[in-house]
Amino acid sequence: MSATATTVLPEGFDFTDPDVNHKAVPHDEFRLARQSAPVAWIEQDEVSTSGFAPESGSGYFAITRHADVCAISKDSKNWSTAENGAIIRFPSAMERDQIELQRVILINQDPPEHTATRAIISRGFTPRSINELEETMIARGESIVKAAVARGTGNFVEEIAAELPLQAIADLIGVPQEDRHKLFDWSNQMLAGEDPDYAGNQDVAAAEILGYAMMLAADRQANPRDDLITKLINAHKGERGLSDDEFGYFVILLAVAGNETTRNAISHGMNAFLDNPDQWEIWKRDRPATMVDEVVRWATPVTVFQRTALKDMEIDGVTIEKGKRAALFYASANFDETVFEDPFKFDITRDNNVQVGFGGHGAHYCLGANLARQEIRVIFDALADHAPDITKLAEPSRLRHSWINGLKDLQVKYA
Ligand code: HEM
Repeated sequence: MSATATTVLPEGFDFTDPDVNHKAVPHDEFRLARQSAPVAWIEQDEVSTSGFAPESGSGYFAITRHADVCAISKDSKNWSTAENGAIIRFPSAMERDQIELQRVILINQDPPEHTATRAIISRGFTPRSINELEETMIARGESIVKAAVARGTGNFVEEIAAELPLQAIADLIGVPQEDRHKLFDWSNQMLAGEDPDYAGNQDVAAAEILGYAMMLAADRQANPRDDLITKLINAHKGERGLSDDEFGYFVILLAVAGNETTRNAISHGMNAFLDNPDQWEIWKRDRPATMVDEVVRWATPVTVFQRTALKDMEIDGVTIEKGKRAALFYASANFDETVFEDPFKFDITRDNNVQVGFGGHGAHYCLGANLARQEIRVIFDALADHAPDITKLAEPSRLRHSWINGLKDLQVKYA
């Protein structure tokens, strides 16, 4: 453990404290850590951390530099997500058996199991599958924006940023129109359990999504269609199929990962455009392809995922003992001044943007990255075309969460 690690941060400070993140992304503390204690030991209250293995629960090593986040992400031989999961802190109300079940989720598997599961699931995420969604997505994006413009003012997060990802993921999975908002409510309840505004029962939501996934599976078995569920069921017939649990939890992962993340990328992106009108002008005029990565860097919707050391590892001179957890702070790495010039400038023309919002380019790199990129581009195209004079009416309110950088309310005037 590094002797200097704990001295640079305020005593008792924890980057994953939902109350800290409720106020703002703790950029000052990240900067301090990057510069003086890039592998900082953060002591935690054992009750609230609930990793899979209770003995690892008393704290974590905060990894804040871009290079270290990437190096650990790429080294799944020595760093596991199966040991304690990828999520660093579960809501305290979550039952242990519920947490244990999450082991079947792709993101909580290590190679070779992960490699096999990912190969099956990737079939639904080929560039062709995503391209096929583009035309529908553009039409949906335009009608979402036009409906909001017709209302004049409103909450951008709910009306626009949340709506396109919901429709896109439902199109990909093959969820009928009438069930889509159920999926949306369940995914909110799954993720937002730490925010009193979304108080709901996480266990019940998980059980309901599981039941729903099984029902979809049974339906597609009888009536195959050209959608992700049918592709995954067909994959069952291969050499190694998905187990029922894997299948059900994958639908949960998609509902959560597909909705909550992209929504926040779009919300933070809009907020950044509203704060930087020069960038909005550039977007409207030139539509640079570099916009998407800058929005994801700026937003970093997933602030952190964790890995567990499978043997004693040394990072920046600090030994992380076998079984201890390392928290990969994408929210810090994306503002690492040794990698990004002028990192706190929102610059949609930024070149060579090696942002790690979708992960540190390892085996778990976001499977939905292409879909998310397409959604971000489509929605900002629709906004530039149909709501070019959008203005902010109030500063946004933030989600209370330990690892999602979320916005709840962003009141805007569309014209
Ligand atoms: C994994 C972020 C959108 C599905 C991840 C990871 C991150 C991430 C940080 C972990 C990477 C790692 O551990 O190295 C994001 C962000 C998004 C987004 C910021 C939006 C801007 C999506 C969408 C989907 C999706 C739209 C699905 C439709 C997944 C899946 C994994 C994953 C399945 C697990 C991959 C694996 O373990 O092999 N995402 N994601 N994500 N994401 Fe996303």
